[in-house]
Amino acid sequence: MPLLIKNGRIITADADYHADIYCSDEQITRIEESIDPSDLSTDTEIIDATGMYIFPGFIDPHVHIHLPFMGTFAKDNHESASRAAIVGGTTTFIEMICPAPEQMPLDAFNEWQSKAQGKSHCDYSFHLGVVRFDDLARDQIRSVVRDHGIASFKVFLAYKGALDISDENLFDLLTLGKELGVITTAHCENATAIDAMQRRLLRECKTGPEWHEPSRPVQVEAEGVHHLATFAELTGAHVYAVHTSCAAAIDVARDAQSRGVKLWVESVIPHFLLDHTYAERPGFEGAKYVMSPPLRERSNQEALWSALAAGVTSAVGTDHAPFDFNGQKDMGRDDFTKIPNGIPSIQERIDLLHTHGVKTGRIDLNTLVRVASTNAAQIFGLRGKGTISVGADADIVIYDPGHTHTLSANTHQSLVDYNGFEGWEVTGRAHSVAVRGQVMARDGKFVGDSTGRGRLLQRQSTHF
Ligand code: URP
Ligand code: ZN
Ligand code: ZN
Repeated sequence: MPLLIKNGRIITADADYHADIYCSDEQITRIEESIDPSDLSTDTEIIDATGMYIFPGFIDPHVHIHLPFMGTFAKDNHESASRAAIVGGTTTFIEMICPAPEQMPLDAFNEWQSKAQGKSHCDYSFHLGVVRFDDLARDQIRSVVRDHGIASFKVFLAYKGALDISDENLFDLLTLGKELGVITTAHCENATAIDAMQRRLLRECKTGPEWHEPSRPVQVEAEGVHHLATFAELTGAHVYAVHTSCAAAIDVARDAQSRGVKLWVESVIPHFLLDHTYAERPGFEGAKYVMSPPLRERSNQEALWSALAAGVTSAVGTDHAPFDFNGQKDMGRDDFTKIPNGIPSIQERIDLLHTHGVKTGRIDLNTLVRVASTNAAQIFGLRGKGTISVGADADIVIYDPGHTHTLSANTHQSLVDYNGFEGWEVTGRAHSVAVRGQVMARDGKFVGDSTGRGRLLQRQSTHF
């Protein structure tokens, strides 16, 4: 059904103006000062967006949905996670494929795609996690890139003995990335240092969630970013540091960028808003707030906001990694190293950024669009996404900037049993969300049908 959005204020990465938008055949086909509905076919759906912002659909470049991790599986599936995404204004996500150490890349790609296809309500892509990197794996990695439109890798410098990549393999993979025009995303924390510090803390009977942060302090992350940047500099590869959490790591990244290293920086919602005291909450409540890199001293938060406003940081994702408090987080009741890592926020990201970024004056509306949509589309080659222009996909968020509501596990769409932002009041909510022209959320409710019409996006590298 065609869609006409009238009287809205269109906000993109670099523009802010009033106009009407007409969408048909899944794309934006007209943007004009005023479009007369009587000229359109009678089945056109019309939304009056007076007083609303019109944003391009938001893109979350860092989510985990099918995630076998730390002896369990993350709680969401593609149906629930994409519902949560859309209700919160996210119309495209990029999920991390996290293969088992021995798993072949093509098997891993097929496993993740079989979970998403026909289930996801919104469009999606994957970062191909590279854990295994022998000759056979290398051939299959080429095939995943060439035949399946995957244009980014993911490596872990952390999680020793489980997912971490050796320096030898990192160097070779970055070299392959450069050859293929593929950007490599990386979790930057020094695995060996963390392993040693975790063992030391446990020997001292420091077993609670409050010891998670001291086991991986800011130096460990700054070293990780420095390591990635150095390897990128030596190979000429393009790299992207995920979930950068602290001033020390941002400083290293800024230095590397200023000497020409092709390094992009991402930070994720929990690090902007939550500090280490959440992981220190009594009664094991702190386990809800265990993620890696860990929640930091509050002073780091202003460094993250400043880096965002200054363009050092290009993207804000969520690192949505939902593990139940009851039955999953409590696997680590006697040993913090066994608490599955993650703080979910796929639905809350935009409202939190609007409330704590835009409303406080830390970032403006154009920056919101840039860091939560447009930059991810450009960095990761998502054609037709991240913008409002004629010919673009009709992924559109009609946003009510004055609506207030309270975040809660009782109302969120995710299947996880807690909300890290429980009881937080936020200002702003997606009034309506269209995915390729079809309205799939209204007033905080999912209104799409049961078919998972999301597509695996065929990405085109924008690198090299
Ligand atoms: O704590 C986190 N970040 N969990 C998900 C896995 C990862 O490291 O991204
Ligand atoms: Zn990570
Ligand atoms: Zn992650």
